Amino acid sequence: MNVRSLISLLSLAAATTLAAQTSPAPTPPMGWNSWNHFAGKVTDVDVRATADQLVSTGMRDAGYVYVNIDDTWQGKRDASGIIHANEKFPDMKALADYVHSKGLKLGIYSGPGEQTCAHYEGSLGHEAQDAQTYAGWGIDLLKYDLCSFSKQMAAERAAHPDDPKAATKLMIAAYKKMGDALRATGRPILYSLCQYGLEEPWKWGPQVGASMWRTTDDINDTWARMFIIAQSQSDLAPFAGPGHWNDPDMLEVGNGGMKTEEYRQHMTLWAMLASPLLAGNDLTKMTDADKSILMNRDVIAIDQDPLGKQATRLYQHGDISVWTRPLTGNRIAVALVTASWGERNIQFDLAQAGFPSGANVRDVWAAKDLGHQQGIFTGTVRQHGVMLLILSK
Ligand code: GLA
Repeated sequence: MNVRSLISLLSLAAATTLAAQTSPAPTPPMGWNSWNHFAGKVTDVDVRATADQLVSTGMRDAGYVYVNIDDTWQGKRDASGIIHANEKFPDMKALADYVHSKGLKLGIYSGPGEQTCAHYEGSLGHEAQDAQTYAGWGIDLLKYDLCSFSKQMAAERAAHPDDPKAATKLMIAAYKKMGDALRATGRPILYSLCQYGLEEPWKWGPQVGASMWRTTDDINDTWARMFIIAQSQSDLAPFAGPGHWNDPDMLEVGNGGMKTEEYRQHMTLWAMLASPLLAGNDLTKMTDADKSILMNRDVIAIDQDPLGKQATRLYQHGDISVWTRPLTGNRIAVALVTASWGERNIQFDLAQAGFPSGANVRDVWAAKDLGHQQGIFTGTVRQHGVMLLILSK
């Protein structure tokens, strides 16, 4: 390597480190989002109750600090184009003050098109104005959802039949426009892209100012959908790191559609994937099982590990897979995962996981040290279940 390329490599590394330090997301963002449970019914009252619950349940102290209002808060624009909230949110600034008074942050939602997915007002043509409005209210995060912008993309495609990338370029420009508008407000507003992984946002997300980007279409509260999403993430590991995260969508833990063991698998996979952890349940109705899953400090610590390395699949044989994730302190997290209807013995070679002379093994969900182990490790995993281990020297 010549001196010039060494210098440019070093300055790239320095710029990346600086970006990570100044990013609002040095580790994956954690909080709550209204969509998975409340969808179009969310109100100011629900958001305040959620903020209260985040504090009283211990969720905030476990790291869940963003309270994100998803689609359906928008009202009309006034004569000067300024967006106002609808009757469900009588005073957005007062709501932000309330959320902040609890030591939490407030997130909001819009999109680059004329309309959002739920057919509320989008930001097209009002990007700078909307960013200023959000900053004035005291907003801390914006989720920006593609939806009706597909209309503009179709028109662009038709106008440039010779350029197969024309629509993609238009979409990236639209995301950059809002990213720039947020930055111009001077308020740190975490920018969360939502365009379902179209056109590989992990490759251009950081350049438009994003701290996270959805990698798939929507999750729902079924084990099958959750599992398909998780299984599609392994190749994206190189694109996650301090400051910028792949987002396989919000959590469904506590919404009732999966068994406890399945929710434990969901939480484990999201933590292994260094995913943002955005709870999506009604926090006023949490069971002890929901709390034990969402607030397991050791699992959260894996998600939030400062190295920021996303897990990859060590192997997959039919219904079983083994995932590994490097952690600080030369430790490795290992998840033994099954999609099977029955109990399975899942094996992996400690040497292949980076411990040729054996490792101290901790079973994270059981909160039990399994002592020093060598060679082949075998874990028994229940139906749709998981065993989560930390290996150390
Ligand atoms: C899309 C997004 C969801 C949610 C809804 C709201 O489907 O992917 O996460 O924001 O829109 O309408």
